[in-house]
Formats: sequence, C-alpha cells, structure tokens
Amino acid sequence: MPKIAALHGISNIYSKHKPPGHATPRKRAHKREHAWVDVSDDDLEVKSSKKLSSKGTNKSDHGPRKKARLSAPPGPSFKESLHQQRKQLPIYSGKDAVVDMIRENDVTVLIGETGSGKTTQVPQYLLEAGLSGSGMIAITQPRKVAATSLASRVASEQSTSVGSLVGYSVRFDEACSSDTRIKYVTDGMLVRELLGDPLLSRYSVVIVDEAHERTLRTDLLLANLKTLLRTRNAPTSAVREGAKGKGKGKGKERASEKLNPLKVVIMSATLEAEKFSKFFGGAQVVYVKGRQHPVTIYHTKTSQPDYVDAAFRTFFQIHTDRPSGDVLIFLPGQEDIESLEKSIQLYANQLPKDASGVLVCPMYAALPPSQQTKIFSPTPAGMRKCILATNIAETSITIPGVKYVIDTGKCKEKRYLAKHTGTGFDTLLTRDITQSSAVQRAGRAGREGKGFCFRLYTEEAFNALPITAEPEILRCTLTSSVLQLRCLSQNLEELDLMDTPEESSIAFALIALVLLGALDNRRSLTPLGRKMAAFPLEPPLARALLAAPELGCTSEVLAIVSVLSSSSSLFVNSHDARDAAADARRKFRHPSGDHLTILNVVRAYEDVAGAESKAGRRDWCRKMFLNERCLAEAVNIRAQLRDVCERQQIDWRVGVGDSQGAESAILRAMVQGLVQNTAFLQPDGSYKQVMGHTILKIHPSSSLVDKKVPAIIYDELVYTTHIYARGVSAIPRNFIAEVPLLKQRTR
Ligand SMILES: Nc1ncnc2c1ncn2[C@@H]1O[C@H](COP(=O)(O)OP(=O)(O)OP(=O)(O)O)[C@@H](O)[C@H]1O
Ligand SMILES: [Mg+2]
Repeated sequence: MPKIAALHGISNIYSKHKPPGHATPRKRAHKREHAWVDVSDDDLEVKSSKKLSSKGTNKSDHGPRKKARLSAPPGPSFKESLHQQRKQLPIYSGKDAVVDMIRENDVTVLIGETGSGKTTQVPQYLLEAGLSGSGMIAITQPRKVAATSLASRVASEQSTSVGSLVGYSVRFDEACSSDTRIKYVTDGMLVRELLGDPLLSRYSVVIVDEAHERTLRTDLLLANLKTLLRTRNAPTSAVREGAKGKGKGKGKERASEKLNPLKVVIMSATLEAEKFSKFFGGAQVVYVKGRQHPVTIYHTKTSQPDYVDAAFRTFFQIHTDRPSGDVLIFLPGQEDIESLEKSIQLYANQLPKDASGVLVCPMYAALPPSQQTKIFSPTPAGMRKCILATNIAETSITIPGVKYVIDTGKCKEKRYLAKHTGTGFDTLLTRDITQSSAVQRAGRAGREGKGFCFRLYTEEAFNALPITAEPEILRCTLTSSVLQLRCLSQNLEELDLMDTPEESSIAFALIALVLLGALDNRRSLTPLGRKMAAFPLEPPLARALLAAPELGCTSEVLAIVSVLSSSSSLFVNSHDARDAAADARRKFRHPSGDHLTILNVVRAYEDVAGAESKAGRRDWCRKMFLNERCLAEAVNIRAQLRDVCERQQIDWRVGVGDSQGAESAILRAMVQGLVQNTAFLQPDGSYKQVMGHTILKIHPSSSLVDKKVPAIIYDELVYTTHIYARGVSAIPRNFIAEVPLLKQRTR
C-alpha cells in the first residue's frame, strides 16, 4: 500500500489542455464527416419491474421518484432558486429563437454545448409555448438512468412530482398518467410503442436526444420518424384523397384522424449536424452558444498503460490536494470498477483521521436501478463521493456535486463476431474512446460550477482518437430489431436508414428468426413470431417461453427466463471464500447443468422468502453466495412476464413440478429457444457448434465445466483466451433433431 505522500509523485503528469480545433459547436459540426457513435451497454438489460400506477405514485424505492417526492411540493425558496437556475442557462437567452425555429419547421437539429440546457429546458419551452397542442412531448434517451433522472429534475422544475405533468417510460418501469405532457423515454421504448401505435399519434413532438450515440434503436426510430412525418404532416387534401381511396366511405373521419402534425427535434452536444439535416431533407440547424461553467481539461504528459492504477493515484491526488467536490471516474467495465472500488476503499480506510472520508459508488448497466440511482443522493457532510462508472454516465445526466472527472479513455464496445463463429454473437471489447465521448465525459463536470477533467492520456493521443465510432447498426446483432420491424410490416433492408447494415448481418438475423419459427421459409412473419415480439425478451428466450405451454412447463421456464433476463449474475464469486462458495453452489447443482440449477435456486429462494423476514432472506443469500439483487429482480421480471402471458392467453401457472419427465420437458423448451446455441462433443473433448464451425469450451463458471456430454445448449458465448460457452446444460442429441430445420445436421 503506497503512502499518500508517494502520490504526489504524479502531480506533474498532467499538462493543461489546449483547446481543440473545434472550439465552438458550429465549427465542430462543420468539421465532422462521420456520424458520432458510442456503445450503449444499457438498453438490452432487463432491470427491475415496477407496477404502473395511474398517477405515478409508485411506492417503489426508485431513486428519481424518491427525489421527486422529496422535492414536491417544494417550498417557495427552492422553487425560486430553480427558477433562477433555469434563467441562467445559456439556452435561456435563445429561448424565443429556438421555439420559433421549431414552430416553423417540421424537423430541427439543435446543437449546444454539454450543460447548456437542451434536455431539461427545450421540452418545457415547447410546452409553455403551446407547441405540443393536446399531445405529448417525448424526449428519447439512449439510457434508462438518464430518462428517469431527467424526468425527476424537470418535474422539480415544474413543481410537480414525477408521473404527473412530467413522466418517464423505460423498459419494465414507467411513471406516467393521463396528465403527462412531457415524457422522457428510452429510444427502445418508443420503437416498441410503434407496435401498438404505428403513427405515434399520442405525441405532437418527438425529441431525439443524444442522437450522436447512434444506437441501433435511435437509427430505427429516425427511419420511422422520417416516414411518419410524411404521413402525419401531409397536406390535408392529400390525406383526404388518400383516405378516400383506401377507406371505403370513411374518408372524412380518416382525414381528421390524420390531421395530427408531428414535430421532430434532433439534439446533442457532439453531433454531425449536416448528416442529420441531410437525412431529413435539409432540416434547419440551430446552435446554442456557450456553456454556463468552464471545464479545465488536463492531459497526462506520458501515456498511462495501467489506467486503473493511474485513476487510483489521480483520485487520491484530488482527494488530498483539491477543494471539496465529488469525483466521477470513467472506466471501461464492471471488472475494472470492482477492482478500483476495492483499492480505493482499502486506501481510504487508512487515511488519517482528520482527512475527509470517501464514499465509493459504482455505476454500471448490470447494477439494478435502485443501486444506480444512489449516485444522485447527496454526499454526506465530511465525505467526498467517488463514482466509478462505465459510459452509462457519459451523456445527458447531471450528477449533483460532481466537480472532477477522471477519464481513462477506455470503453467497452459491443461487436458482432460473425466471421469467427459461424452463427455470430455480440461481445464486448475494450477499446479507446472517441473524441466525441471524451467531450461528453468532460461535460459531466462543470454543471453546477467550475469543473475539472483529468484525461489519463496525452493530448497527442486525444488528437489521434477517432472523432466518431461506427453506428451500432453496423456492428451488432439485428435479430430482435428485424423481428420488431416485421411486426410493423417493415423490412430492415428496405428501410430508409442513415447507415445500412451489411447484408450478411441482416442474413444472420433472418436465419435466426427462421430457426426460431418467427419467420417462415418465405421470411414472412408467423403468428408465433408476433407472439414472441409481444414479450420484452430477446427472441431466443421468448421462443423458449412460448415452447413451454405445450410441454406443460410454463411456470418453470418462466422462472429460468426471468433469472436469465436479470441484469446481474445469480452466483456471487468470492476470491476469499472460494471453497465455501463452491460448497454452497453444490447444494443447488443439477446434474443436467446450469438451467435446472437456476430453477433449484429459485425454488429454494421462494421457500426462504415465504418463511423468512427480509433480513433472514438476505442472510440466507449471503450464506449461499447468491446475489439477492438478481433474485429480487427476477421476481419482478417474472411478474411482468406473467402479465404478458395473460394477455396472450397463456396460463403461467401450469408446471411440471417434480413429475417424471420434468427435466426433459424443461430442457426441450430451452432447446427451442437456444437452437442456435447448440454444440456437439468432439473427440478431443471440446465442443463444435451445430450451426457454425466454432470450437467452444465450457466456461469455468458452469456446473458442467469438467464434464463431457454428447450435446450442450448454452446461453451465450464469451470471448477471452478461448471462445467459452456460458450457462450450459447437457441435452440428448435427439432434442436438437426435434427442431425441424436442424434435423439434417444432426444425422
Ligand atoms: N439534477 C440536477 N441537479 C442540479 N442541476 C441540474 C440537474 N439537472 C440539470 N441541472 C442543471 O441544468 C443544466 C442543464 O442540464 P441539461 O441536462 O438540460 O443540459 P444539456 O444541454 O442537455 O447537457 P448535455 O449535452 O450534457 O446533455 C446543468 O448543467 C445543471 O446546471
Ligand atoms: Mg442533454
């Protein structure tokens, strides 16, 4: 353990940042030729499910709503202070120009520096100016935490609680009511809304925020908005004629139905304005100048290959040398966060008694929302908060108290490894960030006062970073999106997209959907495919669930699928108590492998939950080295899935229990979903994919790690030194043959 004094040794590793060439947003926008993008590691995750309450008075412990309850009804001085804060934002002086521009144009591209007030203010300006008419204003966010925390802030600014005038809707959580006029949503949720309301007719304005991230869902939304604009904003006479042609005498009603114009606003601090403007046929571009508080940027003088160590030293240098203010550290992933959390905590415990304490808060996608929102809680007196985050905290959010940002310059990016694996899979790879990300990260400081950003890379390295990364649609699995689009009678390959994915990735998605039975051989949507899309699950898990009723095991498959959809892992790995953890795990182990092992855990947890208090449950989980968060989250997800089952007229209570043949029924259902994730044993003890050519090993975390069984199914592949299959069960070879399209391959 280094002594604090030794930390001063790095005090000269930084050089102050010379402003980059793109000093103003206008200049920057002209310079860029490629779309901005960054990885979204948030949206596919299923988090806790909370019941919708009609007035948004959800009793959950969700952070933003808790905050809203604290702030509503606010006292007059608090209200006045918020009012003053709003008036001091750079966007305030351009308010009328922004509103006029949006009033006069169907599509507006709005660019303004981080913290200038785009996300919180523009929707309020539009509402106050009456631009939303009787409809709602939707503001999309690539990440859930941004949608929920912004709704909370804007509700406070409007002196109401979240769920009334200002609400949000994210996967498995919603706080809205009939009074809601401003709604923060994830882009994925809005794409999903298209399924029930293809014209998005409830919305008068759709603001696509952080459009530079170019998530897969943002791109799908943009393509749909372009079509929607044509339909909803067509001149009334054209609509009337069109309606007459199709509507068999209902011309008049349809005409008035369609007379519901839509406004679209595209926003970001780091956006390639021309590309977006061109995509929307020459949309107007508005720039909001200036930022409220300066951010001083430092680069290291030399490169720092051990970025975790450099972040550690920089944090303690700030902690010992700099005035109060919380610190936000950007790291690529959960492992780095956990290791840095440990070292910071260890070191902080050894600080002299008179030094201020350190409160470490991790922040990554796999943490449940209630944990994530802890970063927004006020820092206790005499403490400095240190938030360790992935790029989940990179855009959009304001974390009150944060004055210092430490940027390691690394992120994890989702990439589709089709070429290596035959069937293809998404994997997360650590890579350097883009200049756009670096600007966004620095923008998390300086929101309430002066800020400082310490980049753990040199200025030359910054200049050499790519300005943008590839849009997600060009590098990720498209299966779920292709299915959703088919439900809208759309084909991805025919959609007017900003960037078109490679033919091979569309082909892989189509093959997967045909294998799952969601599309038929002519690639048309089947009734089964439509049912699959109704479940907020990845298509393979939706397929497994829909295979269960015929096999009589819906209740069991629901339990397994809910745990697999949870955002954290079920088992706790303990380096310090490895043997005890292995002993505990053995108690649940099922000879067939990990899926029935999960079921054993869920059943044991249900027994404990029925008999024990909350504390007793927690204690049991701790002793069993189980992650209670995962189990509690799975219970919520299961409740949500049961609701969908009911709407689909599936009796979720039907189960096989401990009857003879229970194991084979459950595994048969899982095979139907994991049909692409099947492999046969090779003479050398490795496994070869049935659908591809990849040679796999069973991951060390699996209960089947040392076993040699004729055939396996698995949940996912992870790519480290080898390609490993994780979440593995042994199955008889003939189960695979039951999937019609795989019969030939199994002979
Ligand atoms: N939860 C909050 N607590 C305190 N201040 C806040 C909060 N949310 C927003 N603010 C204030 O409002 C300002 C504008 O925030 P807003 O999110 O609208 O900016 P933005 O232009 O959208 O920034 P970005 O490009 O980073 O998303 C912040 O810089 C901060 O001063
Ligand atoms: Mg914003």
